[in-house]
Amino acid sequence: MTVPQPMDGAPQVITDVDEATDATPEVDEATDATPEVDEATDGSPEGDSGLLNAELLETSFALVAPMADALVERFYFRLFRAAPEVYHMFEPGRFGEQKKKLLAALKLTVNSARKPESLVPVLRDLGAKHVQYGVRAQHYPIVGSILLATLAEFAGDAWTEEVRSAWVQAYTVVSDVMLEGARA
Ligand code: HEM
Repeated sequence: MTVPQPMDGAPQVITDVDEATDATPEVDEATDATPEVDEATDGSPEGDSGLLNAELLETSFALVAPMADALVERFYFRLFRAAPEVYHMFEPGRFGEQKKKLLAALKLTVNSARKPESLVPVLRDLGAKHVQYGVRAQHYPIVGSILLATLAEFAGDAWTEEVRSAWVQAYTVVSDVMLEGARA
């Protein structure tokens, strides 16, 4: 299913999350990203649950979790460099809060692999809440690519093609459900 690629830590951008708008996802030079269409996930979390590799997500998350402070800092640094227009959406000077929120987002993504059906209502609500923050569909692939790039950086050699693919699929499913909630 996946073609092994040499791993150089360079992330791939997630481009198929953005069905709600005509916007072309921006490819940030900082992420060195190659657009990739992930056909395995078509927005139906129930049908896709078998494809999500919970174990790979959990072990890779456990690997980077002890470096949470540095990871969160790096994530926001990369995000605001790639997409300065989202900076104002975040509460300034609340690093502790941002850290909790990013970790919550990562945990939600990981958990989506174990119990996608039960998370659907939660994710739909979260998607609607993100509309209030000012988040639009075109921001999801940008955040996805930055998230993967940051995880890749911290996971080092453990960031294999399989791990990357598990994260792409999980993020795509979670985003699709959040975007359903955003449109409702
Ligand atoms: C799979 C995608 C995403 C997940 C799972 C996710 C998850 C979360 C969670 C759990 C929170 C905390 C919610 C709360 O406080 O009740 C949050 C807050 C937030 N998210 Fe996301 N998010 C995602 C995508 C995005 C995207 C694409 C953006 C666009 C920039 C974004 C911007 C924000 C902002 C601005 C906040 C509020 C931060 C604050 O209060 O300072 N998120 N997100």
